Amino acid sequence: MDIITTKTAYSQVNNLLFKSYLPNIIYSAIEVGIFDQLAKGPKSCVQLAKLLNAEANITESLLEVLHAIDYLKRKDYTYSLTDLAKEYLTQESEVNQITAVKQFTSTEGPFANLTAALKGKVPEFNQNAWSSEEAIRSIEQGSKAGALQYVLSFVKDLPEFIKARKMCDFAGNSGYYSYAFLSENSNLQSHVYDLKEVCKISKRIKKDEKGFNRVSYHSFDLNNNDEFGEAYDFFFSSHFLYKYDSSKKLVGLLKKINKSMKMGALFVSNHMTGKASGENYLTLCIVELMTRAMGFPTHSVAEDFLKDALTEAGFECRYENAPDERIAYPGMIIAAIKVSEVEDETVPSKDLSASMLK
Ligand SMILES: C[S@@+](CC[C@H](N)C(=O)[O-])C[C@H]1O[C@@H](n2cnc3c(N)ncnc32)[C@H](O)[C@@H]1O
Repeated sequence: MDIITTKTAYSQVNNLLFKSYLPNIIYSAIEVGIFDQLAKGPKSCVQLAKLLNAEANITESLLEVLHAIDYLKRKDYTYSLTDLAKEYLTQESEVNQITAVKQFTSTEGPFANLTAALKGKVPEFNQNAWSSEEAIRSIEQGSKAGALQYVLSFVKDLPEFIKARKMCDFAGNSGYYSYAFLSENSNLQSHVYDLKEVCKISKRIKKDEKGFNRVSYHSFDLNNNDEFGEAYDFFFSSHFLYKYDSSKKLVGLLKKINKSMKMGALFVSNHMTGKASGENYLTLCIVELMTRAMGFPTHSVAEDFLKDALTEAGFECRYENAPDERIAYPGMIIAAIKVSEVEDETVPSKDLSASMLK
């Protein structure tokens, strides 16, 4: 795999793309009555959701987007209008510009049905969202805009990685991270685990890639509690743990992962933690709103939550790398070592509701 060094910050482009969703988001907030309710006085998310008969967890992430663009103020989890929102986005204002916002909305895109989702019509999340050739190529292309380089530059020098012979690329899609790791460790073999359709397409589109003979694709569906191999020296999990949004579920999965690894082996997590600054913070709020409106619990694993779960599951957190905000969807890397054996637990398949933007 040729790994190009990026010279500029892709997050700048990504932030602009996400901003283009704002008219739909703001208009949904107008439609469900957020600005009009807050014009009557400050309220918490729970109070607002109740008054508006809206889904609380989607309302929460919507309020955070409006706060990030300075349309709302927030104090101790109570939201109130800024002067700008009061003047231009409330029905009672004689100079409101609600029609103007509507003119910028689109009937396409992830927020076209936001109002319906807020009102309870939340679609069932489609876990096959990454199972088409187009989606597989697109997610790999996205990773090459900085994420792949960021993860590789950190992992390649870890002593446990240099010694590793067998790795698991957990929910690894077409295995683009594997190919990058293989290019830095000539003794490494990778086992990519992903959904059946993803494996089938990946084997076809990757067959000419350098290192293909060192990568095995295994169909598995974690919702069916399928096994994912054993005796790993290195276990890599990136942008997958989000739906394990309760401590019980996350620890249960990490214990299963622990059992699949050798003692002293390396576990690396690359996930968004819910923290970012400036323009990236707004993008992260919009990503979270999009995620919840799609019927998925969250797109963030808080750092301490993950570290505590790793400790409980027999790991010692040893290395970490703060998110690089030049890349889109910046992940925080936490690298841990298996230090004790644990009994595995069956992973419950039902999701609990999530709340991450604190
Ligand atoms: C956001 S992608 C992450 C891909 C890659 N690890 C990365 O960081 O770019 C999530 C991956 O999880 C896979 N996936 C989703 N649900 C799954 C399930 N129930 N069992 C196994 N894999 C699943 C998807 O096919 C997809 O490849």
